[in-house]
Amino acid sequence: MRIVIPGGTGHLGVILNRALTDAGHEVTVLTRRPTRPGELRWDGRTLGDWAEAVDGSDVMINLAGRTVDCRYTPANLREMMDSRVESTRVVGEAIAAAARPPRLWLQMSTATVYAHRFDAPNDEATGRIGGTEPGVPAYWSTSVEIAKAWERTQRQAATPGTRKVALRTSMVMSPERGGAFEMLLRLARLGLGGPVAGGGQYVSWIHDTDLVRAVEFLIAREDVAGPVNLAAPHPVTYREFMRGVRTAWGIPIGLPATRWMAEIGAFALRSDTELLLKSRRVTPGRLLAEGFAFTHPSWPEAAADLVRTIRADRTGHAGR
Ligand SMILES: NC(=O)c1ccc[n+]([C@@H]2O[C@H](COP(=O)([O-])OP(=O)(O)OC[C@H]3O[C@@H](n4cnc5c(N)ncnc54)[C@H](OP(=O)(O)O)[C@@H]3O)[C@@H](O)[C@H]2O)c1
Repeated sequence: MRIVIPGGTGHLGVILNRALTDAGHEVTVLTRRPTRPGELRWDGRTLGDWAEAVDGSDVMINLAGRTVDCRYTPANLREMMDSRVESTRVVGEAIAAAARPPRLWLQMSTATVYAHRFDAPNDEATGRIGGTEPGVPAYWSTSVEIAKAWERTQRQAATPGTRKVALRTSMVMSPERGGAFEMLLRLARLGLGGPVAGGGQYVSWIHDTDLVRAVEFLIAREDVAGPVNLAAPHPVTYREFMRGVRTAWGIPIGLPATRWMAEIGAFALRSDTELLLKSRRVTPGRLLAEGFAFTHPSWPEAAADLVRTIRADRTGHAGR
């Protein structure tokens, strides 16, 4: 298949590009700064020559968007919104203009669209969309608004010949450098892998092997459209999650941190505490109902697998 990946230079793009290329597909990445073969220039906002790669392609996987791992200043929030809405809009325009449009448009979205909650898991059918839950900082609703606008832009695109799926993706745990797992492992190795703000908030996650397999599954399953949660079936609390990281690496203790300590830490890391403190209890209702079988359904088994791969890579043994 010919697969186009806007925003394919980042963490998830590299993982998907490698896996899909290894599987024999021809992948074209759209980037603002092309440097490698297979990369085409676009600006994420306007139609250009890049749209020729969309015409005659089979699958579009749009990952573009300013990173959310930053301080949530008004300027950064605006950029997080605009980069997602604009890139999705122009991807839709390219598909609409194509003589031979792709038959599938997988559009990245986020598990953050769901409400901060502890009482029950959010699946696609019964989940509660966030933005109005009481007792959380008012600015948390902006992430939900971004997610909703992102999905709405795809939904409203006039692309009748193309199946559309919104990937409500949880935190992807990979052994890659620069990913979330490496960052959490670093914290744990510094002794900071204890519960934060009580540690009762839920972490939804997916192993990168299952992310790739879910994308392949959704490409093959021509009857599935609309929002699909990409999350392992067993979200765990932050406390359990970090215990799993520590156990996998062999770190006996993790110091607990208060909300205020987390604020200071997030400030130092130029990040935002919403990423740590929001309870994301998200489950893959549709994937399971459609018969998708996870390779790594449970934490800490998935953490142990990631640590094995990281250690094998570092010692020169074949990790994967
Ligand atoms: N990683 C996760 O666990 C996770 C979980 C849920 C959802 N997501 C979402 O999935 C997408 C990919 O995630 P990722 O971790 O691979 O992110 P990433 O490493 O930050 O990569 C995102 C890509 O988007 C492009 N981009 C950034 N700002 C842009 C802008 N203003 N206009 C157009 N393109 C822009 C960049 O490509 P160029 O600089 O080459 O143009 C970059 O490589 C993101 O939208 C992210 O929010 C990620």
